[in-house]
Amino acid sequence: MVINSQETMEKIVSLCKRRGFVYPGSEIYGGLANSWDYGPYGTELKNNIKQAWWKMFVKRRDDVVGIDAALIMNPKVWEASGHLGAGFSDPLVECRNCHERFKVDQLNLKDPCPSCGKKGMFTEPRQFNVLMKTFLGVVEGEKSAAYLRGETAQAMFVDFKLVLNSNRQRVPFGIAQIGKAFRNEITPGNYIFRTREFEQMEIEYFIRAKDWKKQFDYWLEQMKGWMDFLGLNKKHIHFREIAEDERAHYSKRTIDIEYDFPFGTKELYGLAYRTNFDLKNHQSASGQDMSYTDPVTNEKFIPHVIEPTFGVDRSVLAVLCESYAEEKIKDDERVVLRFPKHLAPIKIAVFPLLKNKSELVKKAQEIYDDLREKYMCEFDDNGNIGKRYRRQDEIGTPYCVTIDFDTLENKTVTVRDRDTMKQERVVIADLNTFFHDHLSGC
Ligand code: GAP
Repeated sequence: MVINSQETMEKIVSLCKRRGFVYPGSEIYGGLANSWDYGPYGTELKNNIKQAWWKMFVKRRDDVVGIDAALIMNPKVWEASGHLGAGFSDPLVECRNCHERFKVDQLNLKDPCPSCGKKGMFTEPRQFNVLMKTFLGVVEGEKSAAYLRGETAQAMFVDFKLVLNSNRQRVPFGIAQIGKAFRNEITPGNYIFRTREFEQMEIEYFIRAKDWKKQFDYWLEQMKGWMDFLGLNKKHIHFREIAEDERAHYSKRTIDIEYDFPFGTKELYGLAYRTNFDLKNHQSASGQDMSYTDPVTNEKFIPHVIEPTFGVDRSVLAVLCESYAEEKIKDDERVVLRFPKHLAPIKIAVFPLLKNKSELVKKAQEIYDDLREKYMCEFDDNGNIGKRYRRQDEIGTPYCVTIDFDTLENKTVTVRDRDTMKQERVVIADLNTFFHDHLSGC
């Protein structure tokens, strides 16, 4: 459920802090602007998203392999990729409304923003480079400048030949990576939507130039499949063809996939045709041959690239926004995160009805120990059952199992469904089969 309002966003942010999804970074020191820490449930949610992505795009495919490269690469990488080029080190201003950036010398600062038309929204001009600079080495004066990577993509280009030689892939094939990227955004904001440190899941899919349109369409469909898997409502997703003058320096076609966040419709993911811009540039900058020779046809060429790119943090945020619901039940209200079951941080919560009845606690512990072998579970014996249900609803747990006095008599437990709130009695010996059926794919 997405309600377009700042109020909804504030409720989500507050729930995330209270329940342990996302905390303000470095909070005991007054925080650090736009830095966020994932708490226990946020970490589970984020890991579930990353693992599912890896399964869908790497594990289940013969034509995509994964790498995990260094965050700091040789600075020459960023020269060759164009990230250190003049376009990134000019004084820029950014429109606070639409986040478009403009070179100061191309703009009258008193005019409305050429992109969204709003007045008075420009930031102060700043000498701006998107890459985050750091220094390597321990001896003062001998340190050399380096950059934290601005996108995970470059490692897939730089390692292209190594992967080819070690893994005997044939074009078309892809290299995938999940990891952190860093950018000196001038105006980060909107919670975890735009930060200076974030995570990406990217695929560089190497193709023959003549196939680019077919492959572009194919990958767009794959991305739609992924968003279905995340449970995002198609009505909240929009595809925006990016005009030539708006595209990144390397792209010949880009589609931005936008999502209706509570603070507006904004970019969630992107799909780009990067031509052979990167491999070609790395070839001329490094002097290394970056071409591919097909072992069957003997054709030799520098492959072109289709790049589906997915922000991890924006995935988490979209799933949170989509799942957040407030419901009236009789005279009461509940807040529930209706996560798709396969994404829920906790799959099953196990409760002894009463904390001070040792036979109930013992039985509950036995059941909990058995279920946690297969599923992420939580044991809770605090407060009354109603309160425990509400807490699990707020963290999106699909099932709660309660051990009560009947359990000791007839070896059954109550299983309560998050969405319907219906309760049914299930024989303990059948619990594994029950969850095998109800949590398939988790
Ligand atoms: N390799 C291509 C690339 O990096 P991008 O559109 O600049 O393209 C890809 O970034 C994705 O990374 C975006 O669609 C978004 O999901 C995520 N992303 C980019 N900048 C971000 C930021 N400052 N904070 C959080 N996520 C970001």
